[in-house]
Amino acid sequence: MAKAKTSFFCQSCGHSAPKWLGKCPSCGEWNTFVEELVEQAVHPAEVWKTKGSPKSAAKPKLLNEVSFENLPKLTCSDPEFNRVLGGGIVPGSLVLIGGEPGIGKSTLLLQVALSLTQTRVLYVTGEESEQQIKLRADRLAAKSDSLYILTETNTQSIFRHLVDLEPELIIVDSIQTLFSDQIESGPGSVSQIRECALELMRFAKESGTPIFLVGHITKEGSIAGPKVLEHLVDTVLQFEGDRHMIYRILRTTKNRFGSTSELGIYEMLGSGLRPVTNPSEILLSQRDEPSSGIAIGTLMEGNRPLLVEIQSLVSASSYGNAQRTANGYDGKRLSMLIAVLEKRGGYKLATQDVFLNITGGIRVDDPALDLATCLSLVSSYEDKIIDSSICFAAEVGLGGELRSVTRIDQRIAEAEKLGFKEIWISKYNLKGLNYKPNKIKVQSAATLLDVILHIW
Ligand code: TYD
Ligand code: MG
Repeated sequence: MAKAKTSFFCQSCGHSAPKWLGKCPSCGEWNTFVEELVEQAVHPAEVWKTKGSPKSAAKPKLLNEVSFENLPKLTCSDPEFNRVLGGGIVPGSLVLIGGEPGIGKSTLLLQVALSLTQTRVLYVTGEESEQQIKLRADRLAAKSDSLYILTETNTQSIFRHLVDLEPELIIVDSIQTLFSDQIESGPGSVSQIRECALELMRFAKESGTPIFLVGHITKEGSIAGPKVLEHLVDTVLQFEGDRHMIYRILRTTKNRFGSTSELGIYEMLGSGLRPVTNPSEILLSQRDEPSSGIAIGTLMEGNRPLLVEIQSLVSASSYGNAQRTANGYDGKRLSMLIAVLEKRGGYKLATQDVFLNITGGIRVDDPALDLATCLSLVSSYEDKIIDSSICFAAEVGLGGELRSVTRIDQRIAEAEKLGFKEIWISKYNLKGLNYKPNKIKVQSAATLLDVILHIW
């Protein structure tokens, strides 16, 4: 076998060099260079083909001649999961599911595997023993006669098993535990993750078998491993939520087969994950006692829409200087909005202490939250409650006018998905509005005062 061609890559940023370097010239990290395979003499994914199946050389094809007939999507009994994937599992797709440890990734995938009773599923695990998986399956109280478990972490061995089993769906838990003989560095290193993912992708594309990969995430919240992993796969799903709470959200952050504005909501019960079909129950259940000072705004996090609750407390200041305290919110922006409310709305806030809090402990800086922030302040100042089915998405200008915000369609779709009945936006946003809401009423206004007059 001819010697494979290798190059050196920085484990931190992916910078490549023909020889080993102590310090990366790109990111400045020390001792991060590792040798990696660039060109292989025989690709390891070839192993699965040794039995029959002649190598089919891909030829250029007329787009009009490409047919969809052999592309039926695999649907499971979980409607949230199908929706997040864009209607079902696409043959030959490579899907990455990221999430914090203990959030329920293994549970979710095992549940999906168990629900596909007519499909031969192979669950490859490098994290747990067969007994542990069996225990979990018993807990989920589901049975399948076509689910196989394989405890293996070497990709070449996995490919060998695939030849005999010919599974119709493969689940790999997790990509960080896999290793390929082609690379010398240990499992979990950037080069191993990249190589294993590439091998699996090649298998998925050539055999038409869909593969799910579980990916761990780093402290910062991104999927551990090279960014190329996310570029390589067809779909990236994020499973998130607070481990101390029972609700989990499954979001699509990338999908080559569907929209990324979908999200699935689950409830973690003793018997597994239950899809929540009416998500508004989450927000409503958290606020059974309505109180003043609460307003819901929409926020874009990257390309993900989120709804956040803004809480404020406005109370007469007993000292000379009024206090302004903001948690998770830009203090300068708060001062600006207070000034707008004073000048344009006549609210006497100069003598009031103002405390603002974003619930859930997150930091926000989307100007589309301005309107919700202002209404939360007015609500607390006047001690009037805002109906919990209303949310807001508009920027507030210095003249008290409402300005349009980006991605209004996605924000409205998210609010509708979460069960809100009414969303207030700037009238200037109506022009670019493409989304056709059916359950939510889109209200528009020109100024902040219009909204205040209308909702109370
Ligand atoms: P797990 O799927 O192991 O998480 P991950 O693979 O993302 O690390 O989920 C583990 C958590 O889920 C664990 O804390 C126990 C809880 N759980 C339930 O509450 N109910 C269940 O039926 C199962 C199987 C797990
Ligand atoms: Mg797990």
